[in-house]
Amino acid sequence: MIGAALCGHDGRRGYIYHLAVDPEYQERRLGKRLVAECLEGLRRAGLERATIMVADANPRGREFWKRCGWEEIDGAVAMGIDL
Ligand SMILES: CC(C)(COP(=O)(O)OP(=O)(O)OC[C@H]1O[C@@H](n2cnc3c(N)ncnc32)[C@H](O)[C@@H]1OP(=O)(O)O)[C@@H](O)C(=O)NCCC(=O)NCCS
Repeated sequence: MIGAALCGHDGRRGYIYHLAVDPEYQERRLGKRLVAECLEGLRRAGLERATIMVADANPRGREFWKRCGWEEIDGAVAMGIDL
């Protein structure tokens, strides 16, 4: 396995998690292809918008998503709780 992405939806929004490409295979458009396949699946399921979470401490990841056409969401705050 050289790359992976988890993708799903709640009926309203699509979500992509844990996108990763093996460092030896990065910058060969595999990440972009994995995202494109996720988005195609979401479109087929009738979804019109997808969301991801990108860590502040991951500027490379942020740049990747921007290059793929994603935009930062103003007015949204990520929240969580320990279980
Ligand atoms: C982010 C990640 C999945 C990108 O995968 P990849 O296969 O190397 O990316 P691609 O080759 O498909 O690149 C797609 C575009 O993003 C750009 N890009 C990729 N990595 C980049 C980087 N580190 N900095 C700037 N641009 C980058 C490419 O130049 C390309 O741009 P283009 O379409 O304008 O030519 C990969 O770097 C990775 O696994 N990182 C560690 C895990 C991670 O951060 N995942 C994201 C969590 S939110």
